[in-house]
Amino acid sequence: MSNIPNIAKEDIINAFKYRHATKEFDATKKVSEEDMNFILQTANLSPSSFGFEPWHFVVVQDQELRELLKPVAWGAPLKLDTASHFVLGLSMKAPMTKWDTDYIMSMMKDVKQLPEDVIEMYSKFYREFQERDFNLDTDKKLFDWASKQTYIALGNMMTSAALTGIDSCPIEGFHQEKVEALLKEKFGVDTDKYGLSYMVAFGYRKAAPEYPKSRRNFEDIVTWK
Ligand SMILES: Cc1cc2nc3c(=O)[nH]c(=O)nc-3n(C[C@H](O)[C@H](O)[C@H](O)COP(=O)(O)O)c2cc1C
Repeated sequence: MSNIPNIAKEDIINAFKYRHATKEFDATKKVSEEDMNFILQTANLSPSSFGFEPWHFVVVQDQELRELLKPVAWGAPLKLDTASHFVLGLSMKAPMTKWDTDYIMSMMKDVKQLPEDVIEMYSKFYREFQERDFNLDTDKKLFDWASKQTYIALGNMMTSAALTGIDSCPIEGFHQEKVEALLKEKFGVDTDKYGLSYMVAFGYRKAAPEYPKSRRNFEDIVTWK
């Protein structure tokens, strides 16, 4: 059991305002291992559809591996050079997330420790959800569905970083096919099972943001009925 959170709203909003997509980090400042594990814990504690946790995070600290990413990730070079920690957000593909895979069975049996009859009932339900309700009938659709979950973890990691004064930058500026080929060849990632959803860099900003935060009017994005 955890305590009821008691964080001042003002502090939370301040963290949201403080967070910005950091273009360049101060390469001399490192996020501590404890802080980085705290950030990754908030990924682990993130919600996911049916609690399938269809993600994996690769923390790339090896400079040689970072160099390999540069030619296939146009949005990343400056971050790869300066970020304290650089994370690849991987999402599971169909062989992991289809309703009848070994992974889904193992999630129910080993992680959630559900009894056999409940597993049977849930399996039927997952099948209906994937095939009938969400029409997840291609590998691409199943991957995109898993990706949606992995982006929730991204938001949580960036927010928890901001709440502790750590900067971040989410990155989709890469060639998906080329990066995946590299992940298979050099990073030991099984790309039949995992694809890359995003990259995210963590560290401390080198300078104040170049532009003030801009957002649409609050009234234009919210409708109350
Ligand atoms: C999914 C996603 C992908 C992004 N990809 C990149 C990227 O490749 N390179 C980059 O510098 N910024 C990237 N950004 C940052 C956005 O440009 C930025 O969040 C947006 O302009 C709003 O600015 P703010 O985050 O500073 O408030 C990305 C943001 C998101 C959410």
